Amino acid sequence: MSGESFLLPDDRLIEVEPYRVLAGIYDQVMSHVDYSAWTDFVLDVLADHGLPSEYGEPPPTLLEAACGTGSTAIMIALRGYNVDAFDGSPRMIAAAEAKAKSIPGRPRFKVADFMTRGTGKTYDAILCLYDSVNYISAERSLGDFFKLVRDQMRPGGLFLFDVCTEYNSLRHFAGVEQVEYLKGASYQRVMSYDPRAGIQRNRFFIRLDKSPGDVYVEQHIQKIYSLETVRRQIARAGMDIAEETDNLIRKPPHAESTRVHFLCKRK
Ligand SMILES: C[S@@+](CC[C@H](N)C(=O)[O-])C[C@H]1O[C@@H](n2cnc3c(N)ncnc32)[C@H](O)[C@@H]1O
Repeated sequence: MSGESFLLPDDRLIEVEPYRVLAGIYDQVMSHVDYSAWTDFVLDVLADHGLPSEYGEPPPTLLEAACGTGSTAIMIALRGYNVDAFDGSPRMIAAAEAKAKSIPGRPRFKVADFMTRGTGKTYDAILCLYDSVNYISAERSLGDFFKLVRDQMRPGGLFLFDVCTEYNSLRHFAGVEQVEYLKGASYQRVMSYDPRAGIQRNRFFIRLDKSPGDVYVEQHIQKIYSLETVRRQIARAGMDIAEETDNLIRKPPHAESTRVHFLCKRK
């Protein structure tokens, strides 16, 4: 469906920061994502590289950066791990808090930016999932983030994150528009990719049923890094790469990988 057919002539377009309105419909938009399978993958990879068992006493400590609405953090906490989680969007954290309210041993959520220095606490493992790292807009900042992560890992601690690849942007997210009707809302996503700048732009036009003449516009900008750039910044931050995966398959990435997980170990 084209932009013109989703937007109506009398619509009032209201620009808001990323995730301000999307937060309220994020779990519906992501309903195709199997967070349970992703959590299994994460815990398998971490266990294979030495994360102590969830049955240990005290339980292993995990930090999830850019946890969004907390789906993974909650599943990991339910498996007996001691989880802290943060996200830069107050609305995403509010949604996470609401979901976790009645969960025993629920994660401790807080609003924080990627570039916020830690409190001195160190973790057995740190996660940053679902192309959240791609929201870091420049290679230097990526390196700064990796160093901040490293400082919060115990020696020998683990860091697992993923990035989207350029193949993914070119193949699936360049010049694509999509409209979806949800419970209580509808949205159009307009996706473009600038290969020269390595920038993926996703514009969300969100209409809430309760105020149908208002369309909230969010611009999401992600930097698509080459795998070489990611590897270079991991090394500069003083971590070793223990495993790279082709999406959720535990085989090395290849030219047509759409997402790559990096499992890093603090030296
Ligand atoms: C695609 S979502 C992924 C969320 C979650 N990890 C998941 O698996 O559903 C990207 C997340 O990155 C967060 N984010 C973007 N920029 C950030 C920043 N500078 N600091 C902290 N979080 C940020 C967003 O608020 C959003 O929740």
